[in-house]
Amino acid sequence: MRHRRQVVGIDRGDWVRRRFALFSRRTNKDTDPDMTADRFDIRPSRPADRAAIETLYPQAFPDEDLLPVVRDLLDHGEGVLSLVAAAASAEPAPDLVGHVAFTPCSLAGTAERLSMLAPLAVAPAWQRQGLGRALVREGVRRLAEAGVTRVFVLGDPAYYGRFGFEPERGVQPPYPLPEEWHDAWQSLGLGDTGRPGSPLRGTLAVPEPWRQPALWAP
Ligand SMILES: CC(C)(COP(=O)(O)OP(=O)(O)OC[C@H]1O[C@@H](n2cnc3c(N)ncnc32)[C@H](O)[C@@H]1OP(=O)(O)O)[C@@H](O)C(=O)NCCC(=O)NCCS
Repeated sequence: MRHRRQVVGIDRGDWVRRRFALFSRRTNKDTDPDMTADRFDIRPSRPADRAAIETLYPQAFPDEDLLPVVRDLLDHGEGVLSLVAAAASAEPAPDLVGHVAFTPCSLAGTAERLSMLAPLAVAPAWQRQGLGRALVREGVRRLAEAGVTRVFVLGDPAYYGRFGFEPERGVQPPYPLPEEWHDAWQSLGLGDTGRPGSPLRGTLAVPEPWRQPALWAP
């Protein structure tokens, strides 16, 4: 991420918008989003999906190398929920067009089960057709079923707000964020604790794959 500003030559605001997909192109305009989502199963990733996941990330994030953290999460991320959007049948469609990971996190002083959504990627030709939404919703459903009470995300509030994520003030991210990113740090309460605003306080503890300041800074 640090090298992005030098290579791409964009300012911080632009960087945030690019990272959180505000500049992504609208593709396949005539496709019905719900029908597109119906053509894909949202299911846990399998070892055989690995190559397709590794192909997907450079396509979805052309300016940012997320492969190291994705590989780390898939190889060593204990308890990581890794979901893919994969072709539901033999009809002509790519095998795998989307991926999301949810990493278990913790907070000193609470036994609540917490998770962090990241990263989320949909292949460019399949964006804005409901697949990102389907991946997030299925992940959140599975986490709620597993007793997770809150999910954190660093992302575009215009996108994640659609799922009910709200700016998180009580729980700090593992590394300080620039002022202009503060609203991008958000959380969503699940189950009975799904009330607005987090009652939790402290700094989120993330596992090793996320303990890299460069992943949290321009
Ligand atoms: C962000 C991303 C995961 C969203 O997935 P998607 O399948 O394209 O999103 P959905 O179809 O579920 O989007 C639903 C709505 O969210 C908004 N949205 C989705 N993608 C958007 C984008 N690229 N720019 C602006 N708004 C977007 C739109 O309002 C969209 O509905 P509408 O266009 O019909 O109004 C996908 O665009 C992507 O992979 N982008 C590149 C990587 C990235 O930025 N990942 C997120 C940060 S970790």
